[in-house]
Parts: sequence; C-alpha cells; structure tokens
Amino acid sequence: MSSIPSTSKPKQSGVTIRPVREEDLPTADRIIRLAFGTFLGVPDPSKFMGDVDYARTRWLADPSAVFGAELAGELVGTNFATRWGSVGFFGPLTIRPDLWDRGIAQLLLAPTMDLFERWGIRHAGLFTFAESAKHANLYQKFGFWPRFLTALMELPVGEERKSVQWTCFSEFSPDEKQSCLQACREVTSSVYEGLDVEREIRAVDNQHLGDTVLIWDGSRLAGLAVCHAGPGTEAGTGKCYVKFGAVRCGPNAAREFRRLLDACRQFAATRGATKLDAGMNLARLDAYREMLGAGFRTFRQGVAMQRGANPGYNRPEVFLIDDWR
Ligand SMILES: CC(C)(COP(=O)(O)OP(=O)(O)OC[C@H]1O[C@@H](n2cnc3c(N)ncnc32)[C@H](O)[C@@H]1OP(=O)(O)O)[C@@H](O)C(=O)NCCC(=O)NCCS
Repeated sequence: MSSIPSTSKPKQSGVTIRPVREEDLPTADRIIRLAFGTFLGVPDPSKFMGDVDYARTRWLADPSAVFGAELAGELVGTNFATRWGSVGFFGPLTIRPDLWDRGIAQLLLAPTMDLFERWGIRHAGLFTFAESAKHANLYQKFGFWPRFLTALMELPVGEERKSVQWTCFSEFSPDEKQSCLQACREVTSSVYEGLDVEREIRAVDNQHLGDTVLIWDGSRLAGLAVCHAGPGTEAGTGKCYVKFGAVRCGPNAAREFRRLLDACRQFAATRGATKLDAGMNLARLDAYREMLGAGFRTFRQGVAMQRGANPGYNRPEVFLIDDWR
C-alpha cells in the first residue's frame, strides 16, 4: 500500500495539505454535501445526497489515498483517490464553498497526481459536470481532457424471479475468497491489462456495504459486479448501486453482460432495493445499448475526463460498468 507524502507547505498562504484522519470524517462528509449541494443549487445543501456515504467508506477502503486541505486549523477540503490496479481515478474532490477559486483544489490535486505516479497508474480519469467550464479548466491543468459522456442510469426493481444463477463473494471462506479474487483479476485484466478491483471487493466485504455478485460459466468466473446497497453506502436507502461490473472479454461478452445485469437486478431485490443504479461511459457503446435494452434509463449525465489520449477500457466493445463517480 502506498503512503502519502508527509505534510507539505503549499505556496498559497496558510493552506496545508495533509493526510485525513478518522476524526476528520464528519467534517469531510459535511464539506462534500455542502459543496455539491451549493454547486447544484439545492435548497438545503447540507442534506444533499441523503444517507449516501462517500467519506467514511472510501477512507476506510484506503486511508493513505485521501488528502485534506487545512486552513487555520480547520479542514476545508478533501480529495479521495482510488487505485484499481493499473487504473486510477479521484473524487469526490470538494472545497468549502466560501473558499472556492483560491487555488485550494489545485493544491489537493498535486499530491494526488504524485500518488498516481507512485502507484504506476496507466489509465487515469475522473467524472465531472459536463456543463462546467470551471471543472474542465481545472482538470485540464493536470492533463485530463473531456472525453465521453457518462450516463448515470437506473432501473426499477420489483419482485424478481431467479432466472440466472449467481453467487455472492461474502458466502466464501477466506481461502475461497483468495482464489475468487484471483479469478476476478483474470476477468478484469481480460478487459484492460492490470485492471484489478480487489480494493472495491474487499471494501464491500469488510465494511458490509453490499456484496460482489458473481456469475459463472461452469467452474470459470464469467463476470462480477461490486454492489453497494442501502444507507451508509454509495447507494443510499432503497437503492442498489453497481460500483463496478465486468464480464470476461470474448465472443460471449454481450450474453454474459445481460446475465450479469439480471443477476444484479435479482441481488438488488434480495436487499429490498426498489432501484438498481449503474453508470456507463458512452464510449462503451455496445454495453450502453444493452443497458437501454434491459430497461435502464438515464437520470443524469456527466463527462469522463481522461489523462492523455489513451482510451483505457472506454472502448465500444468493452462490457464494463462504472462511472468514476
Ligand atoms: C470544483 C471545486 C473542487 C474547485 O475547487 P477550487 O478550490 O475552487 O478550485 P481552484 O481554485 O483550485 O481552481 C479553479 C480554477 O478554475 C478557474 N475557473 C473558475 N471559474 C471558471 C470558469 N467559469 N471557466 C474557466 N475557469 C474557471 C479558476 O480561476 C481556477 O483557475 P486559476 O487558478 O487558473 O485561476 C470546488 O468548486 C467544489 O468543491 N465544487 C463543488 C463540488 C464539485 O463540483 N467537485 C468536483 C466534482 S468533479
């Protein structure tokens, strides 16, 4: 696991970039809600996103990947980085609204880029507001360019018939979990070399955020979906959120993807969710069409910004679910 650099003194007067500690999490959570709620103009920004949690769940997944900005002894902004093997993304990046446009986000991004460097990230990106010139300008300074729209989609979930066979990661013994993680790596690296979502699978398992849904082709893993469900997770009450899903690359990928979507719907029903939430980068055209065909509808669109011209796994033939939200 990478460690973050020791506290650095930035040029801007008074702001210090430092690691985020557990006791900072309530403030970090408050700033996330306030910043997004203010930007989107909601009536009570502090209540934005209800019981969805990012700060605690992402910090617990890897405390060394979270940076805080401190001013006059107070935490005023945070950024959360995520490593999926050779792939890295960051967010939520938020600054207390009364301190916007003073360069604080840029101070948080500098060490995040250093961390990506140390992690050996080859495909780096983020999800942001497609309509915001400010956001595009900010991230372009760090080599990220607006690429494809990313649709945040949802599907109503009702009484689901069990039409496909699937299992859950949480049912396995510790030894079985180890071999399952290896099988998951095989599936994800068939899509993009070095892509590895062990961090997400373990975070969901250790923190009881939901489960990883697995579909099989005989004894061979065909696909996986890391799902959050319910309050205190990235899904929130009444929802199941597919944070990451992928099927093995190959001639059967479209069929297996349909099976994976079915399995996720059924899993969502077992958790009492009434909506299945999943994001799709529209560069993955075939997968997007499958989602529409399965009944998903877009409730919000943003844009994926990617470093350099490398498309990574955002290619038409890739059957993968994620949105870097
Ligand atoms: C987005 C956010 C993190 C930026 O934080 P910040 O501390 O205000 O950002 P910075 O001051 O470091 O950088 C913003 C840059 O955009 C520039 N900018 C501001 N408005 C702009 C506009 N309309 N068009 C182009 N550039 C603009 C600023 O001038 C600054 O660049 P400069 O240093 O060259 O002058 C903050 O506004 C926020 O918390 N927003 C709400 C939550 C959010 O949207 N998070 C990001 C989700 S991806």
